[in-house]
Amino acid sequence: MARKIAFINYKGGVGKTSLIVNVAACLAKMGKRVLLCDFDTQSNASIWLLKLDRWNKINSTGEGAVYSLFDPGKARIKDLIIKDVVEGKAGEKLLPGLDLVPTTFNFVDLENEYTGDPKRPAYVIFYENLAEVEANYDFILFDCPPNILRGSQLGVFSANEVYVPSNPDALSLIGFTLLVEKLGKFHQLSASFRRTAMGPAAQVQGIIFNSIKTGVDIEVPKMRMQLRMNQFRSAKRVGQNAKIFDTQIRDAMVVRRAVTLGLPVNLVGEGADESVQQDNVVNDYRKLAAEIIAQGAKL
Ligand SMILES: Nc1ncnc2c1ncn2[C@@H]1O[C@H](COP(=O)(O)OP(=O)(O)OP(=O)(O)O)[C@@H](O)[C@H]1O
Ligand SMILES: [Mg+2]
Repeated sequence: MARKIAFINYKGGVGKTSLIVNVAACLAKMGKRVLLCDFDTQSNASIWLLKLDRWNKINSTGEGAVYSLFDPGKARIKDLIIKDVVEGKAGEKLLPGLDLVPTTFNFVDLENEYTGDPKRPAYVIFYENLAEVEANYDFILFDCPPNILRGSQLGVFSANEVYVPSNPDALSLIGFTLLVEKLGKFHQLSASFRRTAMGPAAQVQGIIFNSIKTGVDIEVPKMRMQLRMNQFRSAKRVGQNAKIFDTQIRDAMVVRRAVTLGLPVNLVGEGADESVQQDNVVNDYRKLAAEIIAQGAKL
């Protein structure tokens, strides 16, 4: 069965998209079958992996992206999946195994214009769609915006695990706290739509520190986050094995450059060489992917 994981924090700009794209790419390199679903209207993950020209084509038609599942509502998820999404200049497939459900700017209409049947909320429609393709994947990852509005709900309802990308600062701690509260509320509100076969409602299973600058001591913010995590664990509001990940991702220029190149960092420059165990950000992402695999065994 695929592991379904939402990456979310109530704080923006902490590195959710960078983490999910690069972890997805590392998992695919390890031979896992990965589906990344983009639930952020900004479409950052989609534009990154498709590059602007390919994404523009989809965006201009208003079809072929997540919102088509809801309006006009005739598309099925298999029509939207872009297989082996990462391509080189000549259209050659650079990363077999990494598929994408793209988003375009019309996805924002899910929050306002969309008036579906209240008996079938958007997250239920998405869940049913996903069930049709789930068997094809080892990992299904959801990139969510920093809120639990309808876009994110598609991810957190379908997911069985939540990871929280964070920066080592006070605002990330507030974001994490808010997230746990709002996630709990959403699970209560959506409880009548959950079936046993869906597995447990997703709880936070881990916090991942991102963008750590060399020489900056993060022990104090880490300790504060750990204390909050311990409180939530005692109150059973996060997973019983939830933890701050040992692996943290360093701040590195190549992460920003990779976006411009339209490639995950494990396909860029020196980092692409897997035979050398270099001390670099690509290996941070590889270690993180391995730690996520290991965390799955404890669920
Ligand atoms: N490890 C890193 N090193 C350097 N820059 C990084 C790193 N991680 C993320 N960034 C940069 O920080 C910015 C925010 O990252 P990202 O878009 O991944 O955050 P986000 O949480 O998805 O934001 P949003 O809330 O808008 O969706 C981007 O410009 C990204 O390139
Ligand atoms: Mg993002």
